[in-house]
Amino acid sequence: MDAPPLLILLFLAAAAVAGGGVATAATIHPGDLAVLEDLRRSLTNPDVLGWPKGADPCGDGGGKGWAHVSCDRAGRVNNLDLKSIGLAGALPASFSSLDALQDLSLQTNKLSGPLPSFRGMAALRHAYLNDNAFDALPKDFFDGLDSLEEICLDNNPLNKTAGGWEIPPALAASSPQLQSLRLTNCSLVGGIPAFLGGMTGLQMLTLSYNSLTGPIPATFAGSGLQKLWLNNQLGEAKLSGTLDVLAGMADLQQAWLHGNQFTGPIPDAISNCKQLVDLKLNNNDLVGLVPPDLTALPLLRDVKLDNNNLVGPAPALKSGNLTSSHNGFCAVKPDDKCAPEVMALLQFQAEAGYPVKLTGSWSGNDPCKAWLGVTCSQGKVSVLNLPSSGLNGTISKSLGDLSALSDIRLDSNHLTGHVPDSLTGLKLLKKLDLGMNDLNGPLPAFRPDVNVILTGNPNFNTKTSPGGSAPKDAPHSPTTPGTPGSQGQGAASPGQRNKKSKILLATTIPVAIGVVALLSLGAVVLFCKKNGSSVQPQATSSVVVHPRNSSGPDNLVKIVMTSNDSFGATSSGTSSRDSDIHMIEARNFVISVQVLRCATKNFAPDNVLGRGGFGVVYKGVLHDGTMIAVKRMESSVISNKALDEFQAEIAILTKVRHRNLVSIMGYGIEGNERLLVYEHMSNGALSKHLFHWKQHELEPLSWKKRLNIALDVARGMEYLHTLAQQCYIHRDLKSANILLGDDFRAKVSDFGLLKSAPDGNFSVATRLAGTFGYLAPEYAVTGKITTKADVFSFGVVLMELITGMTAIDERRIDEETRYLASWFGQIRKDEEKFRAAIDPTLELTDEIFESISVVAELAGHCTSREPSQRPDMGHAVTVLVPMVEKWKPSNNEAEDYMGIDLHLPLLQMVKGWQESEASMTDGSIMSLSLEDSKGSIPARPAGFAESFTSADGR
Ligand SMILES: *[C@@H]1O[C@H](CO)[C@@H](O)[C@H](O)[C@H]1NC(C)=O
Ligand SMILES: *[C@@H]1O[C@H](CO)[C@@H](O)[C@H](O)[C@H]1NC(C)=O
Ligand SMILES: *[C@@H]1O[C@H](CO)[C@@H](O)[C@H](O)[C@H]1NC(C)=O
Ligand SMILES: *[C@@H]1O[C@H](CO)[C@@H](O)[C@H](O)[C@H]1NC(C)=O
Ligand SMILES: *[C@@H]1O[C@H](CO)[C@@H](O)[C@H](O)[C@H]1NC(C)=O
Repeated sequence: MDAPPLLILLFLAAAAVAGGGVATAATIHPGDLAVLEDLRRSLTNPDVLGWPKGADPCGDGGGKGWAHVSCDRAGRVNNLDLKSIGLAGALPASFSSLDALQDLSLQTNKLSGPLPSFRGMAALRHAYLNDNAFDALPKDFFDGLDSLEEICLDNNPLNKTAGGWEIPPALAASSPQLQSLRLTNCSLVGGIPAFLGGMTGLQMLTLSYNSLTGPIPATFAGSGLQKLWLNNQLGEAKLSGTLDVLAGMADLQQAWLHGNQFTGPIPDAISNCKQLVDLKLNNNDLVGLVPPDLTALPLLRDVKLDNNNLVGPAPALKSGNLTSSHNGFCAVKPDDKCAPEVMALLQFQAEAGYPVKLTGSWSGNDPCKAWLGVTCSQGKVSVLNLPSSGLNGTISKSLGDLSALSDIRLDSNHLTGHVPDSLTGLKLLKKLDLGMNDLNGPLPAFRPDVNVILTGNPNFNTKTSPGGSAPKDAPHSPTTPGTPGSQGQGAASPGQRNKKSKILLATTIPVAIGVVALLSLGAVVLFCKKNGSSVQPQATSSVVVHPRNSSGPDNLVKIVMTSNDSFGATSSGTSSRDSDIHMIEARNFVISVQVLRCATKNFAPDNVLGRGGFGVVYKGVLHDGTMIAVKRMESSVISNKALDEFQAEIAILTKVRHRNLVSIMGYGIEGNERLLVYEHMSNGALSKHLFHWKQHELEPLSWKKRLNIALDVARGMEYLHTLAQQCYIHRDLKSANILLGDDFRAKVSDFGLLKSAPDGNFSVATRLAGTFGYLAPEYAVTGKITTKADVFSFGVVLMELITGMTAIDERRIDEETRYLASWFGQIRKDEEKFRAAIDPTLELTDEIFESISVVAELAGHCTSREPSQRPDMGHAVTVLVPMVEKWKPSNNEAEDYMGIDLHLPLLQMVKGWQESEASMTDGSIMSLSLEDSKGSIPARPAGFAESFTSADGR
């Protein structure tokens, strides 16, 4: 049994009698004694304490006190030194009553159970509780620790089973003088609390081996921290973000940040950390050049940079140890030199904000060795091809040092600032594509034969610098938008552009192989001439394809027309002089099949967005969160030749880039696997929102949204027709090929294909396709293809936007209304009928009605029977821009557009087709249905050509 109270009283009396002796210690305070006795009781091995029963712990009058206990003159316990004596058991709940305790050493024992609250231990200055097995820490543990200077809780599984704990903010308020906070390996979770950075006295902070995530808070800049250990966070997600904040920590001596996920470069301003001795940054995701000033820091002795993606020359310390294995350095040994071209490219990469896409690829000392976006010719960098590569920042003047550069493509990035003068010194430069960025003028004076593209830089001041000549519209591609509406408000705001766009793209990869390809129901983009002259295929035979069922607009009638001699020509076209460079450029879009497998959860059925004839489209998420749509070709359609064409086609696809065109992000090939990767468009096809909104429980589109969509489509088509490097004809524009992003902005898809024609000979347009209902009459009848065929289709889309009716619907019994284009042409001028035709979901205010009328007129204009009477897409943009912008419809409704009389020819045409189909007996006409979403098709061509139409499929 423990000493009864009576005994204590006796001792107290004795001490009082003996008072005035040599002893400085007073008789122990009864409260403190009670805590010590509680402690003795709560231990499982109290004997190791060696505390004799009966004696005063403080050593009454000259007597010897208890081991490990010190008291002040008032008989208060002020020091408990119980370290490393094998204590086992728990601390008593009454522990915080030792409120005169200044120093507590309990480290390296076997103490377990929950820590009692230390609340109110206002005298406690140093507390070592580390290396025990305490398994919980109460929330109010730190409350009122007014004198705390140092506390160590390392290596305790605090609240581990309860999912960890976070440092209570009370610590900052109660312990402003805290100098050392050591919380290594004690199950901390969450972020590093920002308030720690505001604790001005804090010199040492150790948070290693926890499960912390997120960045080093910005508050740490300006803190007085000397030692910062954040290394080896244990969770899947670790500490991340950049190291920029370190540069603000001027007192830093020791920074252990290894074993995390820190990104970005080592900040140049780390040279501010003059006290730095020990810097461990190994095993992170750091990129870029090591600042030369780092190794010049006077006290730096110990540096570890291993296992990052650092580039440039490997750093070395004059004295001390530095390791930097497993990085991308171009020169490793002290005598090695980095190639000047490498340094120029790395400088460019640095100023472009170290885009993630290049990380890991741009390493070593040879840029001709598989550096993403870099193509060499005779060992020198000749092409820099980085469209849509997340470049952020400015264009480095170092590009001017890459003397063999002929082609620089940096379009569709987030570049700001000016175009550096140094680029004008590139003697071989032919093309500089800076479209779709946020660059400012003035433009330095380039030679007139340099094709400089600046489309889509809304703030670009096109004035050239003094003495310079304005960039010429180069022969084959205009430099500045030639039509109203594509400048200025034409560019999406940076915010909009940064938004990851989504959707799946219905695409078409045609591989024209023999007559089998006749079966492919592919939309094929064709070259057209800049001067608008038509491409004339020698259409000697035609194939009319009719549907088996007629349940919707997207899997309906398609028409494929072809000439007999076409396919030989097209195939040889792809092996023309251009194909090599296409191949090389296309390589930059290779995405590993493994990555795509991961992104789509190994092509999980849950990820299926839709199915087409030759593959299934899956939704995917890349590790950086980018949503993608992955089309997986069926292996049965793949041949060697197909592979070649596949790559050549991809190379071309990668060049047609516009914010209103769904872009291809890459492709993957491995074994029999053929994958195409597109941006993912979250809201799916326009047709879904116009015609199937009820099934999908969607809101019908407002008129304002429809107007915006019309303008987006017009812009995308305008780009294809006139603003792209070459002129393209889409051939299958329809609402199922118009995809909507999360903001309901539209992008045209399925603009997949074109044929490389040798020597600018455009007579390759041999295989024609389209979707009936959207087909221009002259195209359907003669196969004569011009951009005006697309304009017709655009007009039909406008009609769909107005009426909410599909372009063609066999269910509409009345022949008059079955074909939207012809019917709409009839009723448009009869106001009563026209009103009745407007989509009933639209709220028909006077203002909206007027706006609709203008669009109806444009639709009529676009569907003029004579192609020459149809406007070009630039005109459509011009009409739509002010309506979208100001909501101000024009009111010249009386104007009659050239007496369009559409319905008759079209209906006759249809009948003609039906008749001709019925009369075909020689097998050259095939009738088949477009695959429905279950994918049963009668025959499979040995190519990729197809039109994927199931954006609505599920
Ligand atoms: C630790 O866990 C205990 C018991 O589950 C809980 O009461 C306490 O609030 C937790 N401590 C912290 C700091 O979250
Ligand atoms: C962390 O603490 C546990 C005890 O809680 C110990 O077993 C383990 O070895 C420690 N880990 C490190 C890395 O020190
Ligand atoms: C460098 O490393 C060696 C071997 O590990 C060690 O003996 C030496 O003390 C280190 N020097 C410095 C300055 O840290
Ligand atoms: C570009 O850099 C700025 C400033 O560093 C940053 O705020 C922005 O998020 C970056 N944008 C992209 C797309 O990386
Ligand atoms: C258009 O191109 C064709 C073929 O090169 C040419 O014959 C014709 O003269 C051109 N037309 C115009 C208006 O430039």
